[in-house]
Amino acid sequence: MRHLIDPTDLTRQETDNIVALALDIIANRAKYSEACKGKKLATLFYEPSTRTRLSFTSAMMELGGNVLGFSDANSSSVSKGETVEDTVRVVGCFADIIAMRHYIEGAPLDASMVSRVPIINAGDGSHAHPTQTLTDLLTMTRELGHLDNLTIGFCGDLLYGRTVHSLIKAMSRYEGTKVVLIAPNELRLPDYIKHDVCDKYGIEYREVSSLEEVMGELDVLYMTRVQQERFADKSEYERVKDCYILDTEKMALAKEKMAVLHPLPRVNEIAKEVDADPRAAYFRQVENGKFVRMALMYTLLKWADEGAEPLHNHNVVEAPQLACPNAKCICNNENVEKKFHLTDGGVYRCLYCDTKAQ
Ligand code: CP
Repeated sequence: MRHLIDPTDLTRQETDNIVALALDIIANRAKYSEACKGKKLATLFYEPSTRTRLSFTSAMMELGGNVLGFSDANSSSVSKGETVEDTVRVVGCFADIIAMRHYIEGAPLDASMVSRVPIINAGDGSHAHPTQTLTDLLTMTRELGHLDNLTIGFCGDLLYGRTVHSLIKAMSRYEGTKVVLIAPNELRLPDYIKHDVCDKYGIEYREVSSLEEVMGELDVLYMTRVQQERFADKSEYERVKDCYILDTEKMALAKEKMAVLHPLPRVNEIAKEVDADPRAAYFRQVENGKFVRMALMYTLLKWADEGAEPLHNHNVVEAPQLACPNAKCICNNENVEKKFHLTDGGVYRCLYCDTKAQ
């Protein structure tokens, strides 16, 4: 069974095929109107969402299928203590494919280990958001015409920003990717992305604190929200929340051909005045999310019918002496078997959340 938990669960070729299929769907909407007729999507959202949940819903409707699920876990038997594993075992009796968002990191991976239908990670805590990544890849393709040789500036909350982590992983497979990390000290990119992704795949990256200084060299500016809900210490959030604000003055420093992306929602980090700039691609990006999720669900359901085997992209090891120190990891919140993977750099990391094991 193939699932999408992390961007690397798809090969580069499969990723490109899904983006190409999304482009074909955009060009030939009627051709796909019954492509998933008789299929049912379950959306299990344990954390708030507007774009992801509604775009999945709209995508399955446009493919001729149906949708069930919950957007508030408290209205389900989760409130009675039902585990993630039992919930997906049950929902798999009613649905052909499941999209799950969870505030607990690794919950979708845990779900995929017991599920009889494909699981799609619709965002797990601060960890990963692979369908936003597919959305971003389709958006960059449509805005700029290619994915190779792009200099991408990631700005804002790079520590908790799961969309940033997943997009850097995906872009590590494209030739000539350069990454500029624009963040305050408190919100810098996690080391595992720098070492296990950027260093491993030879992505050129540098960390800066000034957005103005680098605007002129970017092909893509990927803005992010500082996420209040991820901070244990609210005074720290207050200190960094308005660290970067994109406005027309800063846009004047940018290339004529570039694209501003943002997974949304935004708070203050992009001034409303920027919306009228043709390089502001973030609302077009939202619609791309629907098309790419159509392509993804169509592909995963086809693979399920064909009995496709998953990629074995992790070096999973038995290590009973190790522990995951992440309090927000599924392995520290539910009764799941602790698992670790050994990176090429010789570091043991939790399989569910990628935190360095202790
Ligand atoms: N981009 C994104 O994940 O938005 P939502 O939280 O509204 O789904």
